[in-house]
Amino acid sequence: MRPLVAGNWKMNGLASSLAELVALKAALAAKAPACDVLVCPPFTLLAQAAVVKDGFALGGQDCSAKEGGAFTGDISASMLKDAGASHVIVGHSERRQYHGERDGDVAAKAGAAWRAGLGAIICIGETEAQRYAGDANNICASQVDGSVPGAATAANTTIAYEPVWAIGTGRTPTTADIIAMHGHIRNCLVRRLGEAGRGIRILYGGSVKPDNAADILNLPEVNGALVGGASLKASDFLSIITALKQV
Ligand code: PGA
Repeated sequence: MRPLVAGNWKMNGLASSLAELVALKAALAAKAPACDVLVCPPFTLLAQAAVVKDGFALGGQDCSAKEGGAFTGDISASMLKDAGASHVIVGHSERRQYHGERDGDVAAKAGAAWRAGLGAIICIGETEAQRYAGDANNICASQVDGSVPGAATAANTTIAYEPVWAIGTGRTPTTADIIAMHGHIRNCLVRRLGEAGRGIRILYGGSVKPDNAADILNLPEVNGALVGGASLKASDFLSIITALKQV
């Protein structure tokens, strides 16, 4: 399984930030990475980023579940595709937390992504309170059941396991906990999807930085990373990409 390292710029980035993508492109051209590389800039930069894009793919950070129409402020999956995206993140914990998105909404957005020809990166992960209560496995299992449509395959879906308490905090689970949770999510995918569940990439996300990337990314159960803050600077993002051992 070829890993994927994806950058999520969140609500950061102006036209001047395109210089980071130019730097990323140059570095990837100089040395081929051991993984697929994806950048998810804000919607406003997608079309300009598509002009620069080479050696990496582009994604949106969210999409509407609707195809189009009177939904002021929303962006459809086909608009993302038209602007140059091949992927879209759905169900990020910040969407779940600040926009009240529930598993059913996330599944509907994944379906909309597929209909537009985009790959869906479906995010799941427990809160700190849920982990302390011993509920992390149950929460992730129910998020897989509720957020991942039954037609998910390796070609159209990636899972990002992002413990909410690790996002933007500088804290990460132990490698033993990451191994255990990725194994659990794999079992949940296989139970839900059958054989198709074996080929779906499971990314780790939450405070992946240049100094911890080698430890996390080279775990056999980890098929890549979803990187927030450390994806904004090409130099940091490249350090994470190159932390992956060539296989
Ligand atoms: P972080 O964010 O790397 O800044 O912790 C990860 C994410 O939310 O995707």
